[in-house]
Amino acid sequence: MQTITDIKEMQARCLAARAAGQTVAFVPTMGYLHEGHLSLLREGRRRGDLLVLSIFVNPTQFGQGEDLGRYPRDFDRDQAMAAECNVDLIFYPDTAAVYPHGYVTYVNVEGPLTTTLKGACRPTHFRGVTTVVAKLLNIVLPHVALFGRKDFQQLAVIRRMTADLNLPVEIVGMPIVREDDGLAMSSRNQYLTAQERQRAPVLYRTLCEVAARLRNGESCFTALESGAAQTLRNSGFEPDYVAIRNALTLEVPAGTGTAPQVVLAAARLGKARLIDNMILN
Ligand code: PAJ
Repeated sequence: MQTITDIKEMQARCLAARAAGQTVAFVPTMGYLHEGHLSLLREGRRRGDLLVLSIFVNPTQFGQGEDLGRYPRDFDRDQAMAAECNVDLIFYPDTAAVYPHGYVTYVNVEGPLTTTLKGACRPTHFRGVTTVVAKLLNIVLPHVALFGRKDFQQLAVIRRMTADLNLPVEIVGMPIVREDDGLAMSSRNQYLTAQERQRAPVLYRTLCEVAARLRNGESCFTALESGAAQTLRNSGFEPDYVAIRNALTLEVPAGTGTAPQVVLAAARLGKARLIDNMILN
């Protein structure tokens, strides 16, 4: 396993692999790896001859006053975990290499996909995500890139971007990896105090409850959403949203259509902002 910080060197390595007929699989991350990231790496290992992991805490996807400065970082630990997954190359650039002096180009997916839900709470977030993912795809030039469904809206936005820009890469979405008590794994879970950590699975259980009631035929979405938000408040969360949406468009489901649905939630618990979702049918 080798760590590469230089963009030109990274491109050259991946171009050489492609020229030699190898399949390049890519897992972009912000580091502080956990089992969720490792599940993507293991699937990437199955799909690629060359497996590339990127670790870059991307400043453009953090808003003013968000946790960019205190986002957890531990490169040595990440390196050891990557080695366990037989990663071939870690791309580990610094911020000045990705966003050099004079940098002014951004990729923006417009419309409801980026302005609803998380986009409404964090208005510049997805522009930062699509910009860095487009750049990383141009640097690593993968055949396949793997993303987690934990960030359900992010995955939808990235699928839209790659389709709209005709990027020659297959985007693979992977299941949410959870702790034993249901809490979705996240680098940000370490912001939770011991007491908050005990309460955190209420988010998952609340989504399970909404999903069960939808499966039982309840159809008043707003009542389900506000009831779930109240359950979260009662457990000390400050919910940003609990929303039942069309899983393909993220729009409010139209009546009793048969399109797949998803329940998404984001809520603050202490210093952590937790997100989770559950797909129905
Ligand atoms: P990060 O939060 O580090 O997540 C990297 C990838 O791991 C994302 O595709 C995310 O959905 C996936 N992931 C995180 N937790 C997961 C879990 N519990 N189960 C399954 N997959 C999980 O998402 C980002 O970084 C950034 O926005 C990035 C795409 C790298 C752009 O900067």
